[in-house]
Amino acid sequence: MKHDTVTPYHSKEEKKEQVAQMFNNIAGRYDFLNSFLSLGIHKGWRKKCVKALSKKNPESILDVATGTADFAIACATLHPKKIIGVDISDGMMEVGRKKLNDLGLSQLIQLENGNAETLTYADNTFDAIVVGFGVRNFQDLEKGLKNLLRILKPGGQIVILEFSYPKNWLIKFGYTIYFSYVTPLIGRIFSSDKRAYSYLTESVKAFPHNENFVKVMQNCAYKNTSYHGLTFGVAAMYIGEK
Ligand SMILES: C[S@@+](CC[C@H](N)C(=O)[O-])C[C@H]1O[C@@H](n2cnc3c(N)ncnc32)[C@H](O)[C@@H]1O
Repeated sequence: MKHDTVTPYHSKEEKKEQVAQMFNNIAGRYDFLNSFLSLGIHKGWRKKCVKALSKKNPESILDVATGTADFAIACATLHPKKIIGVDISDGMMEVGRKKLNDLGLSQLIQLENGNAETLTYADNTFDAIVVGFGVRNFQDLEKGLKNLLRILKPGGQIVILEFSYPKNWLIKFGYTIYFSYVTPLIGRIFSSDKRAYSYLTESVKAFPHNENFVKVMQNCAYKNTSYHGLTFGVAAMYIGEK
């Protein structure tokens, strides 16, 4: 199945609307389930991505699909002048804003409603862009990636974190069982949306992984592209430049 036809509810609404509705539904449980299902490993993945950005000392950072702002918060360790987080789910950002308040980061990090595919920032605005577990949910992946390249400064870097599939067959087998049966079951029990964690599994399966996603980035004119497997290839960090 083509990845952009995988939607949360298989309803007549556009994918973007279904995705926003799903994340609004699960916003209150998202952080808990993220840590529970990944055994807290996701925090280390974001740290690696932030380390990859650190060489360029970015002053302005855009966190696309910011959700509850975890990636934006991780980027604060780079001491940039400004971080903007954008997302199509107001419910997720509401949780994020509470966290920013508690952490005293509301001045540094600003959250705004915005769709990656239609963001209207001027060309060449940001030194760096990060996207954590967001690109898989874009309605039109190439349109979104091209728009992000447009608003990235020349020489600026994008770091994309996304689920992937391990190459080792034994680990892949265990991961497939966990992801196909355990994740949707726990998601159904703890979140108030019965479809959300089945959509997660379906969308990861259908999405381009590793070198295939790098090809998509290259088709969108990103330079110096690479990917780095994380935790046996369960996730991948993709890097590109303008
Ligand atoms: C799995 S969450 C990831 C949140 C956060 N980045 C993290 O690392 O935990 C995916 C987020 O992407 C957002 N999203 C999906 N499509 C989007 C789009 N086209 N533009 C902006 N945000 C989008 C969803 O609303 C959701 O909050």
